[in-house]
Amino acid sequence: MTPSDVKATLSFSDGSPSMDLPLYKGNIGPDVIDIRKLYGQTGKFTYDPGFLSTASCNSTITYIDGDKGELLYRGYPIEQLAKNCDFLETCHLLLYGDLPDAAQRVDFTARVSNHTMVHEQMQFFLRGFRRDAHPMAIMTGLVGALSAFYHDSTDINNPEHREIAAIRLIAKMPTLVAMAYKYTCGQPYMYPKNKLSYSANFMQMMFANPCEEYVQNDVLVRAMDRIFILHADHEQNASTSTVRLCGSSGTNPFAAIAAGVACLWGPAHGGANEACLNMLGDIQKMGGVEKIGEFIKQVKDKNSNVKLMGFGHRVYKNYDPRATLMRETCHEVLGALGLHDDPLFKLAMALEKIALEDDYFVSRKLYPNVDFYSGIVQRAIGIPVPLFTAVFALARTVGWIAQLNEMIGDPEYKIGRPRQLYVGAAQRNVLPIAQR
Ligand code: ACO
Repeated sequence: MTPSDVKATLSFSDGSPSMDLPLYKGNIGPDVIDIRKLYGQTGKFTYDPGFLSTASCNSTITYIDGDKGELLYRGYPIEQLAKNCDFLETCHLLLYGDLPDAAQRVDFTARVSNHTMVHEQMQFFLRGFRRDAHPMAIMTGLVGALSAFYHDSTDINNPEHREIAAIRLIAKMPTLVAMAYKYTCGQPYMYPKNKLSYSANFMQMMFANPCEEYVQNDVLVRAMDRIFILHADHEQNASTSTVRLCGSSGTNPFAAIAAGVACLWGPAHGGANEACLNMLGDIQKMGGVEKIGEFIKQVKDKNSNVKLMGFGHRVYKNYDPRATLMRETCHEVLGALGLHDDPLFKLAMALEKIALEDDYFVSRKLYPNVDFYSGIVQRAIGIPVPLFTAVFALARTVGWIAQLNEMIGDPEYKIGRPRQLYVGAAQRNVLPIAQR
């Protein structure tokens, strides 16, 4: 971290001594005020629920400028990566800091391909779930269970263990998501085919069956790959912070990633693509495009608790750059499949237009986020709605691992342990039960 010549001074109106706080400069983006000595020197904590103004770490991986609508992985704009690289190149970039050259690409692809199968006994573990279990419930269990199957890569403090766990997780997530899907629909699992690309292999495991040949559609494979690239990392979001916090106790990488999967499931985070598609379905049932006005009225009513899913973001106060790319992919996929007249897509486009012109959304800087379109694309590809968030988890796994490894490699890392402002009862005595 680069110290700044400028210092922040914290003063108190009750005459307590003021305190100088060091400032650090990021390479780009806001400076941070270092408050680590605040408690020791003043006996006070800072209060920031939801981390609205708190940087929990320093990181070299991903940069977001929410006002400009800019997203960089290791300095590269997301638009360039989405257009010129594939997902495994993006994984290499996030994990090791740079895009692979030709030889590194071959080597990395071979290392990942080598680990695509999962322990055969995972099938029996999977069979313990109800067939109608939500895929994210299954994924939370399966990813956590990896630590029971791969004992030789569970020491988070051993760099070799971390490396092999990283490769295993990236390689096995598509297999696990496809297995969870096949299990819920009662079809046989399809083994990975390592001659296929990462995304084509995932689609083969999802949609092929042993009875007939599965023909890949290049437009859909490219769309899948783009979904993976766009969701690969997003700096210190809720699930990534969960992975870091969980990993900070020294737990094994599989357990830490399982915690990330659990966090991602929520509708305010990764579950938004599923919630968005369900919302479109509900409006459709209400009467479709004609009922958008009525729906928007509910969204604006503070007492209704209805949100326009797929809109708004904690960091982006401009168009989410991933949404622009996903919108492009959405048109490409619907064009390739002849689905431009799909009623749900038409409804989504009408809803987007109305929301972008409405003062409620404009004044709050609420723009479509990536999930507004990714649900439509996934549905067109044939991915069932309850599986959307599992696909997001698959893609985000590399980001979670890169962030976890960065934290473990940071000499300043400590177990994460937030403080609190206690507003409960002061000390009191337990009375005998007859007197309570
Ligand atoms: N629909 C309607 N109103 C909204 C929405 C929305 N989707 N999002 C925010 N608002 C309103 C809030 O009610 C609030 O209004 P107020 O100032 O009158 O009280 C204002 O906009 C600011 O919103 P906050 O909730 O303070 O914003 P925050 O940064 O806490 O929340 C979040 C961001 C959780 C993403 C929110 O916008 C939301 O719930 N969106 C819908 C869910 C969604 O799409 N999530 C995906 C996020 S992207 C991802 O995980 C890949």
